[in-house]
Amino acid sequence: MKGILLAGGSGTRLHPITQATSKQLLPVYDKPMVYYPLSTLLLSGIRDIMIISTPADLPQFKRLLGDGSRFGVKFTFAEQPSPDGLAQAFLIAREWLQGEACALALGDNLIHGEHLSVLLRAAAARPEGATVFACQVRDPERYGVVSFDDTGRALEIIEKPAVPDSNWAVIGLYFYDKRVSDIATTIKPSARGELEITDLNQVYLQEGTLHVERLGRGTAWLDAGTPDSLMQAATFVQTIQSRQGMLVGSPEEVAFRKGFIDADQLRTLSRQLGKTELGRVLAELADHHPVGHS
Ligand code: TTP
Repeated sequence: MKGILLAGGSGTRLHPITQATSKQLLPVYDKPMVYYPLSTLLLSGIRDIMIISTPADLPQFKRLLGDGSRFGVKFTFAEQPSPDGLAQAFLIAREWLQGEACALALGDNLIHGEHLSVLLRAAAARPEGATVFACQVRDPERYGVVSFDDTGRALEIIEKPAVPDSNWAVIGLYFYDKRVSDIATTIKPSARGELEITDLNQVYLQEGTLHVERLGRGTAWLDAGTPDSLMQAATFVQTIQSRQGMLVGSPEEVAFRKGFIDADQLRTLSRQLGKTELGRVLAELADHHPVGHS
């Protein structure tokens, strides 16, 4: 399975901060925002990743991330000339995908929780259909909202409903089978002019192959698209890291635990981080932890 990290968009809710820089390069406590969804893709076992951003911002992503070899993975970069919707990612990536299954992670979404890697691996291993994850939120009208029947089966997903049927929001991480880019070509722009990911999910839902995985109390999902949610995300990462001494959203750590890089490579990465706390934690990990514990 391949993965797409979608890091374009206009970031208007963060103006003026995002007038001259990409939202997904802003700091979330001690790392650039894009590190969090990147870690999620690596945790899913995905090693071939396309990073999509705006023509103006793409060079900065290349500078930050390189070709992926330091994480033991491969990055390919592609432009999205204008923010025409999330589902457009599969049209941009179509040739590169060569008919393979693909996950999509939104560049401003942070997911952290227990047993997440098991759920992610299961989603990546599912040969047919699609998997989305839903979390309960207080403001479902900002998201794609799933409604369920009495047996817990997903009935419908509606994008930003004025009157939501439930408080289950679909989070910014999606897994699709190999038909995804073909199906994406059939999606028409919505009233707001975007190729909606909800319409793509709805196709799978209607054919009965959409798995909706509900994430409970053990999982935190944050997006960082507004000043308040950006601040909350930073505070969350700071709290977990300083209290538990465990990293949130470190692709270096995930790459090492997955066995994509060895202890020597992790030591090199930690040295590059100089005297930072992040560098210190990674150096300790390289010295004390066996490979393969995710
Ligand atoms: P949004 O938060 O919906 O949009 P945005 O980032 O442009 O922000 P705003 O609403 O404040 O103007 O996007 C979710 C994620 O998807 C975010 O990481 C940006 C990315 N995105 C793209 O890369 N291309 C797109 O066409 C869209 C709509 C979003």
